[in-house]
Amino acid sequence: MAETVADQRYWDDRYRESEHVWSGRPNAALVREAADLPPGRALDLGAGEGGDAIWLAGRGWQVTAADISTVALERAAAHARTEGVADRIDFQRHTLGETFPAGTFDLVSACYLHSEGNLPREQILRTAAAAVAPGGTLLVVGHAGFPHWQGDHHPQVVLPTAREVLAALELPDDAWEVQRCEEHDTPMNRPDGVPDTRPDCTVKARRLDA
Ligand SMILES: C[S@@+](CC[C@H](N)C(=O)[O-])C[C@H]1O[C@@H](n2cnc3c(N)ncnc32)[C@H](O)[C@@H]1O
Repeated sequence: MAETVADQRYWDDRYRESEHVWSGRPNAALVREAADLPPGRALDLGAGEGGDAIWLAGRGWQVTAADISTVALERAAAHARTEGVADRIDFQRHTLGETFPAGTFDLVSACYLHSEGNLPREQILRTAAAAVAPGGTLLVVGHAGFPHWQGDHHPQVVLPTAREVLAALELPDDAWEVQRCEEHDTPMNRPDGVPDTRPDCTVKARRLDA
């Protein structure tokens, strides 16, 4: 419980530090992987300021957006109202690892679910897989390494490869079709504004119909 409070405070403080921490736009990997999926029920884990949830809602998805930070969730909800999609997003505060949104979903997405705090990511991602409905999709996008220009690495933050993510998911072969498991470079600016890339990875799997 003490760790939970500390983690929520850490993220609330981080979000309060600036008006916007993230771009407000959906992650490129989500757009790439989900643009062709028929809309249904989606779960966005670690939704942050809501860029992904709002994009999904705008495409007709009914979204549950979960995050530890009430500051982020309130900001995301305000953005969703501005975009006219607030009625299609259910914002829920969860300390994933302790509680998890109820139900099953046609898309469960975890984009950059990383934390310098206490985040049992592998356990959360296995719970995420269990929440995918038959025929639904699990999407895990994450950093696969620190940017080469960033010397200040956080040893407590584990950044696994796509294969390591897939192995940790423990998806039974006869129940899932793995559609993507790969590293890729994501464009991002260095602190001095120079365009560069950092290594990311994507795992996408479809739960076979029952
Ligand atoms: C790196 S940010 C990514 C945000 C968003 N998915 C994006 O791509 O812009 C990680 C997010 O995970 C959330 N988070 C960290 N630990 C969490 C936990 N235990 N339960 C729920 N959310 C958590 C943070 O508040 C933060 O919004």
